[in-house]
Amino acid sequence: MSASKSNVTVLLGGQWGDEGKGKIIDFLIDHNQVDVTARCQGGNNAGHTVIANGKKYDFHLLPSGMISEKCFNVIGNGVVVNLDAFFSELEHNRITEIPGWEKRIMISEMAHLVFSVHMQVDGRQEAKLDTKSKIGTTNRGIGPTYSSKCFRNGIRVADLLGDFDDFTNRYKNLVEHYRSQFPTIDVDMDSELAQLKQHAEKLRSLGIVGDTVEFMDEARKAGKSILVEGANGALLDIDSGTYPYVTSSNTTAGGACTGLGLPPSSVKDVIGVVKAYQTRVGTGPFPTEQLNAIGEDLQRIGQEVGVTTGRKRRCGWLDLFLLKRTAIINGLTAIAFTKLDILDGFEELQVAVGYKLNGKSLSGPPARAADWEQVEVEYRTLPGWKTSTADVRKYEDLPENCRNYINDI
Ligand code: IMO
Ligand code: MG
Repeated sequence: MSASKSNVTVLLGGQWGDEGKGKIIDFLIDHNQVDVTARCQGGNNAGHTVIANGKKYDFHLLPSGMISEKCFNVIGNGVVVNLDAFFSELEHNRITEIPGWEKRIMISEMAHLVFSVHMQVDGRQEAKLDTKSKIGTTNRGIGPTYSSKCFRNGIRVADLLGDFDDFTNRYKNLVEHYRSQFPTIDVDMDSELAQLKQHAEKLRSLGIVGDTVEFMDEARKAGKSILVEGANGALLDIDSGTYPYVTSSNTTAGGACTGLGLPPSSVKDVIGVVKAYQTRVGTGPFPTEQLNAIGEDLQRIGQEVGVTTGRKRRCGWLDLFLLKRTAIINGLTAIAFTKLDILDGFEELQVAVGYKLNGKSLSGPPARAADWEQVEVEYRTLPGWKTSTADVRKYEDLPENCRNYINDI
């Protein structure tokens, strides 16, 4: 057997999301390094702001390559697809005005659909919890849709495009299943079914649903450069993240394989996008969070407000202890460091280098949710550079202390 061509790069967020993945993806596309961008997990809970050709796009479900006429875009089987969101995002970003856009996108027929019942359940589940236990999800129905997938009563895109009576039965069973748990759920099944029927016709006439596994295999054989665009962030991974304050998919490198049907041996590079400090939206552990003037400065200077939900992001110092775990799990071959200039004005900087629990150093992040609150962070202090780096384009031109900060990482 001949060795497979290795032309797959996985790009993922190294923290709790919002690392600036969109910017790096845009850079790679701009430098003609990408033929295919593919989403492998998550749904419209993600939020990528991409600025290209002087235009600002906000993408949640669409792969970022939609902005480039040179790129083909894949929504893989591991993604959960909200069709209302899909079509409105295309309109909102004026993608449908680009001639031939529909020839540059394929949605996996195996991807699972997000219905309004999932979105409602997302809210209800959260409402049941006390403030401290709330995950603070994006309320896009992501968790409940993955739950349906695992419960094995989920519904795939292919089901929608098949016999509509059969689809209707499945759909009704799914709604009833959730109604038995949450009797106050209010779904107008007839109007949603009518809307879904329209979506089905549109998908069929556009011809944009297909066998993405086959497509990816052909693309690899043809030597195309493939960029798998991770959503959310490594610390939000359902297995390796700060469980249960996580999203419901594998946001780490393995998710690229399962979510697109790619063999692990096809992955050549894994780029971790890492912000120069740490942010998080929603609740959950954040040992280096700065609930003080430092955190406020980071939030203000870094304009840390969520793209998807408009929430202010929590801010704190860079956590190298967690980053080390991220590097191990994902086999990072490169780190793209973002928003370094936000630190320009700081006198000194701190980075977390270790965690202690009950006086003992930990080898890795705690597995028990309750332990996170007891964690004691060990910091290393580094001098700031107090110079603007906003216009610096070369590593050599950065101030010495700034280079030291990078090297330290
Ligand atoms: P991007 O791609 C930041 C967080 C939510 C919540 C938790 C679970 O923009 O980096 P979910 O709706 O996924 O069930 O919510 O995960 N979360 C993100 N935070 N950026 C994201 O994506 C996120 N996707 C999910 O805030 O705490
Ligand atoms: Mg985001």
